[in-house]
Amino acid sequence: MKIVPFEMERWQSTWENSVDYNLSESGVQPIPLRELLREEAATERFLDHPLAYSQGNGTPELRSEIADLYRGATPDHVLVTTGSSEANLLAMWHLVEPGDEIVVMLPNYMENWGLVQAFGGNVKSLRLREDRKWQFNPDELSSLVTRKTKAIAICDPNNPTGAVMGDAQRKSLLDAARDRGAWLLSDEVYLGAEREGPRTQSVWGDYERTLIVNGLSKAYGLPGLRIGWIVGPPETVAALWGYHDYTTLAPTYLSDRLAQIALAPKRREEILARTRSILQRNYAILADWIRDHGSLFSYVPPTAGAICFLRYALGVNSSDLAWRLLKEKSTLIVPGDHFGMDGYIRVGMGDAPAYLTHGLERIDALLRELRAEKGKA
Ligand SMILES: Cc1ncc(COP(=O)(O)O)c(C=O)c1O
Repeated sequence: MKIVPFEMERWQSTWENSVDYNLSESGVQPIPLRELLREEAATERFLDHPLAYSQGNGTPELRSEIADLYRGATPDHVLVTTGSSEANLLAMWHLVEPGDEIVVMLPNYMENWGLVQAFGGNVKSLRLREDRKWQFNPDELSSLVTRKTKAIAICDPNNPTGAVMGDAQRKSLLDAARDRGAWLLSDEVYLGAEREGPRTQSVWGDYERTLIVNGLSKAYGLPGLRIGWIVGPPETVAALWGYHDYTTLAPTYLSDRLAQIALAPKRREEILARTRSILQRNYAILADWIRDHGSLFSYVPPTAGAICFLRYALGVNSSDLAWRLLKEKSTLIVPGDHFGMDGYIRVGMGDAPAYLTHGLERIDALLRELRAEKGKA
């Protein structure tokens, strides 16, 4: 099997732990283990856990907490995975046969775009339009989805734009999937990471052939747990578990228990409130910085996620810009090229305020040099 490189993940996994400022991350500052465990008694109890194999599809306790998030779902509707990235992999592996047409929302976290191709499917692009505040055109969707469409893969709230799907788009999506009998695969890993506005509504519950992907890495600030999940019809979830037997077997024992703590109803709301306050505080810093650059940047303010997708007027390729920033200023951002969109950069804003400010100062230093070079040319 040939794979297309997952450019953004290669870029991040190569550099994110060695740069001075990592502004490539799309989630908020991770919660320390001590903060998650909170009291000494809980920490003590935790130390007594055996480092054993855990239940392959997730413990019933964890699956029950996850099921609570989805109207009418039971633990049998849930498969716990190693990150939401594994959830996407299992879903696509199961769904895509060579020659299948899969409609993929773009731009997107490019995992599903790459997986469709790896499994021999054909990607049909459903474009988010900047002039529509990063919404797709419902007419375009209905012309893309045909009887040959096996699945429609969306990411809502969206990475990299931070946009949340509008009501008209949601309706058109469900109508199109239902009319043509296509599966709906919705990656909702930023659900709950809304900077403003109401909690994003999952597409779960309105249509039988729906698979929801989510996890604790973004809205919950717990990427190191590597806990993700799929919610779907029980018979499909049972089939997906069979694929999981070929990948990671089971979530790690400790992560499953820590996820139970994070998803207890009161605690999960506290965690999501923490995320929102980080986003509000840091977006103010980033928005000021953008404003100080006048017409250099244009953008649609993100609704969710610790990311801002900026169009820049510099006449420099986005990968070249990101590379110079990495090599000369030890600062990591994601070039628009990684989403097939040169002329944009994605800037992460989820870390501590001072860290964000210093990272942005490094970008400023490069911008000054670029201006000076242009002046000389
Ligand atoms: C939309 C989306 N889905 C999935 C993932 C993978 O996350 P994880 O495997 O850490 O849950 C990411 C990571 O950036 C993402 O942005």
